[in-house]
Amino acid sequence: MSKLSTLRKVMAVIAGTVAAAAIAVPASAAQPGPTGEYGPAVVGGTRAAQGEFPWMVRLSMGCGGAMYADNLVLTAAHCVNGTGNNTSITATYGAVDLQSSSRVTRTSKYVYRNPGYSTSAGGDWALIQLSSPITGAAKLPIATSTAYDSGTFTIAGWGAASEGGAQQRYLLKAQVPFVSDTSCKTPYPSLKANVEICAGYTQGGTDTCQGDSGGPMFRRDNANNWVQVGIVSYGRGCARPNYPGVYAQVSALSSAIAAKARELGA
Ligand code: ARG
Repeated sequence: MSKLSTLRKVMAVIAGTVAAAAIAVPASAAQPGPTGEYGPAVVGGTRAAQGEFPWMVRLSMGCGGAMYADNLVLTAAHCVNGTGNNTSITATYGAVDLQSSSRVTRTSKYVYRNPGYSTSAGGDWALIQLSSPITGAAKLPIATSTAYDSGTFTIAGWGAASEGGAQQRYLLKAQVPFVSDTSCKTPYPSLKANVEICAGYTQGGTDTCQGDSGGPMFRRDNANNWVQVGIVSYGRGCARPNYPGVYAQVSALSSAIAAKARELGA
């Protein structure tokens, strides 16, 4: 990934490297226009307020994640190399500004990568067990039914604000509408509709992007609480018209996630 070298100086500042992109993009593809039509980032996003999404986590390999339990971060399988003991990942929690002196950090102890991810079954999820719990951390509950797999979703992350753009110091957020499996199969014929859910505008302009991977896509449930419906997985470029973002469909994976989390001490 040649993109890595061009980003390296910026990335060093936030101690991350971009995880393997599912679909590579040219670094020159999309620049904000003179009227700023791509906006500040997630691509088309705005700054999240401190404490607005308190369970958001930045992972040092250049991915996002969400607190699932005091000792567990839910992220994407494609953000990690495999299952096993792993002390190489730093998780940053508790600050929209990654350089904030009030941020909380933990080192990883163990990583579980969904073994189905590398098979036809798919399922882009992984759990990172922290070396010590973040006691009392805010947690983002995961959807356990398809009840919330529609409507308008919120996305957030420290990833690129445009294709090939720099990783962000401040957490950015945006909203994207659900896209049906049928529609999503036009740009993505190999969509694994049973375990993937798509979101984005037909006209593009708002999307997750490189470095947002592993982070949550979420919405309010009927009790007005946040619930996680997706995990940032892949897309062709970022925010392109007719190419929505593709997310792991949490409702279809929730039983397996919960079972493994219990094993890991959730
Ligand atoms: N795979 C990318 C990553 O590793 C995330 C891509 C999301 N792309 C999109 N167009 N929604 O960060």
